[in-house]
Amino acid sequence: MHVLIVFHSDYAHTQAVAEAIAAGAQAALTDADEAADIALKQAVDVHLDDMRSADVLIFGSPVHMGSMAWQMKQLIDSGSKLWMAGELEGKVGGVFATYGGYGGAGGGVEQTLVALHANFLEHGMLVCGFPRSLSGYAYAGLHWGLAVRTGNEEGMPDGVDDTALLAARAYGAHVLETALRLK
Ligand SMILES: Cc1cc2nc3c(=O)[nH]c(=O)nc-3n(C[C@H](O)[C@H](O)[C@H](O)COP(=O)(O)O)c2cc1C
Repeated sequence: MHVLIVFHSDYAHTQAVAEAIAAGAQAALTDADEAADIALKQAVDVHLDDMRSADVLIFGSPVHMGSMAWQMKQLIDSGSKLWMAGELEGKVGGVFATYGGYGGAGGGVEQTLVALHANFLEHGMLVCGFPRSLSGYAYAGLHWGLAVRTGNEEGMPDGVDDTALLAARAYGAHVLETALRLK
């Protein structure tokens, strides 16, 4: 099982969430006695061959001005070459986002998650949301995927707290358990 977790992160919040997702994925693979190959990469470092060889793709982005960071969109657009030949069809996908939470809510976090899913669905992939039975659902779960608030009430960066990291680990495990069931 080859797992590729792709993200953009300027200030390490999204990276911290990606690392917790990877830990959850690793635990699910270890529990199932599956050989693990989990790669974490910033979007600008991803080559199309990385996506070709993955069985599971998990994409994450900070919300930037109401939508995904351009670095993720640039990678997504370059993936049109894979779409031409249907090279991602049948792979399993998961999505996550971090957001500051201006105005008490994450302006654009749902839009970001839905846009990440839309790309996977265009490729013919099978996508995972965040079921309410997972740990941390009430805190960082949206039915679309994992959504982690990183800002404080003044709109300033405040880090990723333990409950969010728990939700991230649960999501990583969930995506991998789904992929293993399909396998
Ligand atoms: C250029 C820029 C635009 C942002 N726009 C939004 C926004 O529209 N909505 C929101 O909730 N947070 C917004 N944020 C906050 C980030 O989404 C948040 O701080 C995120 O966790 C940063 O992730 P990182 O540390 O991995 O870069 C913005 C941050 C930056 C730098």
